[in-house]
Amino acid sequence: MRKKSSGPFATAEYRANPYVSYEKLRRDMPVYKTSLPNGTEVYVVSRYEDVIAGLKDTRLVKDIRNARGKSFWELLGIGGVRGKNMLRADPPEHGRLRSLANEAFKPKYVRELRGRIQQIADELIDKVQAKGKMEFISEFAFPMPVRVISEMLGVAEKDQDKVRKWSGDLINSGALSSEHTVITPHLAQLVQYIRKVVDDHRKNPRPDVVTQLIEAEDKGDRLSDAEVVSTLVLLLVAGHETTANLIGNGLLALLLNPEQLEKLKQDPALIKPTIEELLRFVNPVQMVNRYAAEKLRIAGQEIPSGSHLLLVLGAANHDPFCTSNPEQLNLVRDDAKHVAFGQGIHYCLGAPLARLEGEIAFETLLNRLPNLQLAVPPETLQWRPAVELRGLTELPVIF
Ligand code: HEM
Repeated sequence: MRKKSSGPFATAEYRANPYVSYEKLRRDMPVYKTSLPNGTEVYVVSRYEDVIAGLKDTRLVKDIRNARGKSFWELLGIGGVRGKNMLRADPPEHGRLRSLANEAFKPKYVRELRGRIQQIADELIDKVQAKGKMEFISEFAFPMPVRVISEMLGVAEKDQDKVRKWSGDLINSGALSSEHTVITPHLAQLVQYIRKVVDDHRKNPRPDVVTQLIEAEDKGDRLSDAEVVSTLVLLLVAGHETTANLIGNGLLALLLNPEQLEKLKQDPALIKPTIEELLRFVNPVQMVNRYAAEKLRIAGQEIPSGSHLLLVLGAANHDPFCTSNPEQLNLVRDDAKHVAFGQGIHYCLGAPLARLEGEIAFETLLNRLPNLQLAVPPETLQWRPAVELRGLTELPVIF
């Protein structure tokens, strides 16, 4: 059995505030070999310049087969268990898998969603306004992006709660940074559900992303059935788990920095820089995976071929090389080039949508609930167990 070490990510201190651990890593161990809570051995890369170089380095790949010759499943002699999506692929496959989904998420199409997203945000506030309080994560931060991406992908309203639950269980299981996707019951249920959505779209095509992907498959063998399903699961999960963290963690950051919140109230035109600063400051996605396709050196340390690496976006965004006084929330920065959406060929496909949702969420909160306050002491707040995506379990607020 593989020996498990507690590593920096399993500690209560890390969970409460990862940025203290990151500061130590950047200073003393810019490339740190450790184990994740799930037992995976990794090299953790934390400095801004190394993370950026890593994101662009073609020797660091996404598909484990390109680094180790075989996938986890093939090593067990059971290859082909699941279809691949862009987030687990390298060129040239990556381009083929990404290009088909890319169109629907371009800024010009995403802008057209503004009216509907605003309506969703308003409906969620309508439900709670008279109560004077809400549990912000379950009553706003999650339902808003879940509804948006579900509507884009043809998930019926009655099914959205269970889809959110399966997806949440998947994230909490630590599957993202694992070397292999374990077919957990929640993933199996999600895949089964998406299969039904695809079958239904085959019978009744509609002008949406699902039909677009299916037609691309039917035309020229460009996406297999398993790839269509896998791509839709990725879009569904990545499309809400991340944005919910931006909205939830972002609101907490603003409430804990009332002078910054006041600046935004005084000047609503600051909404765009606010979203960029919140992305940098709260890092909805803390880290991303790569595998070394050959032996290489980072910050003077040798990394053997086949190694698993974590490029820590959260640590890079809080590096003084990213911006001055990085531990301060400052909505009027103009020197920060954050990597919250990654960089290079895997740069977040949903960035325009996430930015738009973030803008609408905070504009709506400020307009409709201007007296929003934390309802509990901040030190009692709990974080979800997943290491890669940082998000609160609950955020009780009053208004
Ligand atoms: C605040 C919200 C979000 C954050 C912080 C975020 C962050 C990221 C990051 C860091 C990556 C790069 C992963 C890597 O290099 O390994 C990524 C990729 C991706 N994101 Fe997002 N994301 C967000 C919202 C969304 C949304 C709304 C969608 C909607 C569909 C989405 C879909 C994707 C997809 C499909 C990829 C894979 C791109 C590729 O591999 O080519 N994301 N995201």
